[in-house]
Amino acid sequence: MKFDTPAEPNAIDQLKVVGQPLDRIDGPMKTTGRAPYAYERHDVAPNQAYGYVVGSTIAKGKITSMDIARAQAAPGVLAVVTAQNAGPLGKGDMNTATLLGGPEIEHYHQAVALVVAETFEQARDAAQAIRIDYAPADGAYDLAASRDKAAKPEKLTGGPPDTAVGDFDGAFAASEVRLDETYTTPDEAHAMMEPHASIAAWNGDELMVWTSNQMIAWARKDIAKTLKLAPEKVRVSSPFIGGGFGGKLFVRADAVLAALGARAAKRPVKVALTRPLMFNNTPHRPATIQRIRIGASREGRITAIGHESWSGDLEDGKPDGAVSQTRMLYAGENRMTTTRLAVLDLPEANAMRAPGEATGMMALEIAMDEMAEKLRLDPVEFRIRNDTQVVPDDPGRASGSDPQGKAPSAGGDSNQRRAFSQRKLVECLRLGADKFGWSSRNPQPASTRQDGLLIGHGVAAAFRNNQVVKSGARVRLDARGAIQVDTDMTDIGTGSYTIIAQTAAEMMGVPIGRVTVRLGDSSFPVSAGSGGQFGGNCSTAGVYAACVKLREEIGRKLGFNAADLVFADGEVRSGGRSVPLAEAARDGELVAEDTIEFGAIAKKYQQSTFGAHFVEVGVDPFTAEIRVRRMLAVCASGRILNPKTARSQVIGAMTMGVGAALMEDLVVDKRAGFFVNHDLAGYEVPVHADIPHQDVIFLDETDPVSSPMKAKGVAELGICGVAAAVANAVYNATGVRVRDYPVTLDKLI
Ligand code: MOS
Repeated sequence: MKFDTPAEPNAIDQLKVVGQPLDRIDGPMKTTGRAPYAYERHDVAPNQAYGYVVGSTIAKGKITSMDIARAQAAPGVLAVVTAQNAGPLGKGDMNTATLLGGPEIEHYHQAVALVVAETFEQARDAAQAIRIDYAPADGAYDLAASRDKAAKPEKLTGGPPDTAVGDFDGAFAASEVRLDETYTTPDEAHAMMEPHASIAAWNGDELMVWTSNQMIAWARKDIAKTLKLAPEKVRVSSPFIGGGFGGKLFVRADAVLAALGARAAKRPVKVALTRPLMFNNTPHRPATIQRIRIGASREGRITAIGHESWSGDLEDGKPDGAVSQTRMLYAGENRMTTTRLAVLDLPEANAMRAPGEATGMMALEIAMDEMAEKLRLDPVEFRIRNDTQVVPDDPGRASGSDPQGKAPSAGGDSNQRRAFSQRKLVECLRLGADKFGWSSRNPQPASTRQDGLLIGHGVAAAFRNNQVVKSGARVRLDARGAIQVDTDMTDIGTGSYTIIAQTAAEMMGVPIGRVTVRLGDSSFPVSAGSGGQFGGNCSTAGVYAACVKLREEIGRKLGFNAADLVFADGEVRSGGRSVPLAEAARDGELVAEDTIEFGAIAKKYQQSTFGAHFVEVGVDPFTAEIRVRRMLAVCASGRILNPKTARSQVIGAMTMGVGAALMEDLVVDKRAGFFVNHDLAGYEVPVHADIPHQDVIFLDETDPVSSPMKAKGVAELGICGVAAAVANAVYNATGVRVRDYPVTLDKLI
């Protein structure tokens, strides 16, 4: 199904099942331990052996010698795989460093060997007997020190590396009120509960991998590329995933090494990355340095806005897209953004929840708070005053390749700029301010005390773009009138099983209990996958498309020739006639498959999601300990397919935002080039007890431009802006403006 015009009213709009706050259908399995994670799939292949990954102990350089003889002779050892004996390997599209390193070492804890043994303990023990000599080389590990060497990146998603509209320099210099500040965000880790893990088994030249991966089709392709196999020879299964956050978008060492280990040991092999290996072996969110300049009139209209960002990655890597929201969140006739990438020899950088906006909003939304204060304007009002219903920095009009900055004048022709399909930022801010009690906030910093604490309130906008990605599904009606949905979509804890079942139930007119959903298998139709907050809207739209076909099939089979069929209560109805759904499958089940594809409409409008975050903190005046006391998020994200799972996603994102604000910090050893705090004791994330009260409000919105579901992403929107709202609340509480995340107590004293 091609989606190319705004969605008409359709069967989803009945909202009998879709839109209901239903419990997750996989919830009981998950909470009782019956949903097996990759490493626990003992039953899928007999005689599984254990692989233990050895990581490099230098960040850059060469292996000069590697002695595996003692390990090979150790008790229980079946094989030792290294780059020397693994045979020729390719590289996946999505990996920057190779997944099995040597002799060249590209980053600390890059995998250099896999020991396969009868038991995990034997594999771990033998791994200690491998003797590796390295010739370390000098590396670059410090973003601040490499800032001046940073260059325009070649690979960048979301637009050109530089944009310019109007005359930023002139307008900024002429502005009545100006802000020019630099903010930093640290390297961050996904720190999901379930580590990367895989079981691999060969059947002749066919490979089966049970793994934990967000994007099944990418995984299949990259495993095939790495092992130089035809993709048809590889099958990937990942039905249950214990968190991803972007860390499992791409195939990692566990999958490739399990396959190589299984080939060498001639047995199925399972490999999990140990927790200490996770932080330096897999990608992380890169640190950023961000300079923001805002010029405004005394009445608080932005006249110039500029955002420059620096981040680092390995050679051939990608930058953080921190400037992306600044291109379109606030009005202003004169604007510029630049993105620069430094080559760093740290572990590879890549996507983590809302890559780009998550870090960009951490900086921009403090800058907006600072600017509001300079203008003596309420920060909610300042944002409202600079709302824009068209894209002020339309990529089509930007002059990224124009070094002179002679971009076309932005004045007077705003009708050429694309409109947002929906943009309810102002409504989110107003409703949130009202529900949060913003009007009773004391704008004077460090002057509100309660319960012996300094109390502060902060606000930030939320913004994240809404991407659309084609997505397929297969649906089946059996003789009992039950529906089965198969798609390679994944559920990383988000509720995919549930919203997909809701979609099929709504379309086919059956209770949700009559729908079974199977996910995460490369033998199913290729879906959008779980990424970039597009999975919910796009995967259900794919199911919608397949159900439209199945409905047609059923209509034909039952001899209806009307187009106005109603599917309800397990029956198909038209005119006066009503037939049980099961009738259609009496002679054999009916199967339909389709893929939703998004045409030009996706480009005609700018699709983004909006929100507002409000935070109250209490700061101990003696110890400077910071506690979040309550949080509110208001989200405008299109139709909410399931308010319960969506709320859980936003609560989780808000919690992650508090982590980014107050705790999370991969500490770089700038001599040796690795993240020092590579375990969950040293890398702190918030827990339930850290935030006593969180609330989420969804605006009643449908977006017919996004898909037939009229839904949009929400799970990444939820993190964007949170950290700045916390930092702004800390400023309001203490009068100390911290521009270097995380906002830890030492920065307040
Ligand atoms: Mo998301 S960072 O695309 O899993």
